[in-house]
Amino acid sequence: MKAKSVILTGGAGYIGSHIAVLLIEAGYEITIIDDFSNSSPLVLDRIEKITGTKPRLIEQDLSAPDCVGSICSALAGRDYAGGIHLAGLKAVGESVDQPGRYYRVNLGATLNLLSVMEKLKCKTIVFSSSATVYGELNASPVDESGKTGPTNPYGFSKLFNEQILSDYAAANAGFQVINLRYFNPVGAHPSGLIGEDPKGIPNNLFPYIAQVAVGRRAALNVFGDDYETIDGTGVRDYIHVMDLAEGHLAALRFGLSGNWDGVECFNLGCGRGYSVLEVVNAFAAASGQKVPVKVVGRRAGDIAEIVANAARAEKLLGWKTQKDLNQMCADHWHWQEKNPDGFG
Ligand SMILES: NC(=O)c1ccc[n+]([C@@H]2O[C@H](COP(=O)([O-])OP(=O)(O)OC[C@H]3O[C@@H](n4cnc5c(N)ncnc54)[C@H](O)[C@@H]3O)[C@@H](O)[C@H]2O)c1
Repeated sequence: MKAKSVILTGGAGYIGSHIAVLLIEAGYEITIIDDFSNSSPLVLDRIEKITGTKPRLIEQDLSAPDCVGSICSALAGRDYAGGIHLAGLKAVGESVDQPGRYYRVNLGATLNLLSVMEKLKCKTIVFSSSATVYGELNASPVDESGKTGPTNPYGFSKLFNEQILSDYAAANAGFQVINLRYFNPVGAHPSGLIGEDPKGIPNNLFPYIAQVAVGRRAALNVFGDDYETIDGTGVRDYIHVMDLAEGHLAALRFGLSGNWDGVECFNLGCGRGYSVLEVVNAFAAASGQKVPVKVVGRRAGDIAEIVANAARAEKLLGWKTQKDLNQMCADHWHWQEKNPDGFG
């Protein structure tokens, strides 16, 4: 049987590289579109090391004006079953300082991809959305009907993208949109060959802890220990990146095998929360390293707790997470220890 071809934007990034591995292992033929603005070309060699196949690459800023024609030419000659769209900027703080850039890149990339897909008659898109689309007022666990109301331009760019995709689906019969609202992806491929390699100071908890454990940073700042949670620190839903990648495969299959059109939306999370201190302790145990912490004041915009209700994904996609916090910490550490400077 001929392999199904899939367009994977942002496939050299943290989450995209793990999806690339699973797609190749599942027999898909993939073409990555990435400009390496937040990743390294070395990732493609690592994907090849794991799977035996080097993905095809179109090195391109997907948000650039007038890139649609050249991308279509580069993609010509194959039938594409679907697009998985991860390319975009993702740093919340940076989005507050540079809202114009975040809207230009995150919305521009989606609009260009839709034009490409239209020209190629590719009718299924799986989109990387985020739990940041939910407002602060939802009770936890939150399901997909939770009130939206992001608190920063990054979150709004995700919500606006969902709106664009929804309008597009309404206007194009047969078009399928699957929005995946991720909670907090962590961990790494069990080989330790690919993983998260943030540039500069990490914005997220796990990579920060990992850099403390490996000796690159002195201590973890804990933003507030006076929330109404188990130990006063913020509680979040963490999801192993391999489980998250499996969720994309399940979503793609749900699209390709289903006789439906329109929009579907799924939370991808564990449905269980862990506090900052629980994560620190689990990471210290998994790594055998000390993780000093320093409690500082609360961060504006942070909430006490947000956890996913992921029942819809389980029911319709047949997907649920398999890996627990210890596995997340062990795999994250394995990657960090093997690659103390990331991809170098
Ligand atoms: N990591 C998280 O905590 C998280 C949570 C929710 C949603 N997401 C979303 O998932 C997606 C992937 O996240 P990630 O953590 O893997 O980020 P990442 O930065 O590691 O990966 C994004 C990839 O897209 C590429 N890219 C960025 N802008 C591009 C452009 N204009 N044209 C082409 N390529 C471009 C980058 O070079 C990178 O390889 C993003 O859309 C992000 O917003 C991430």
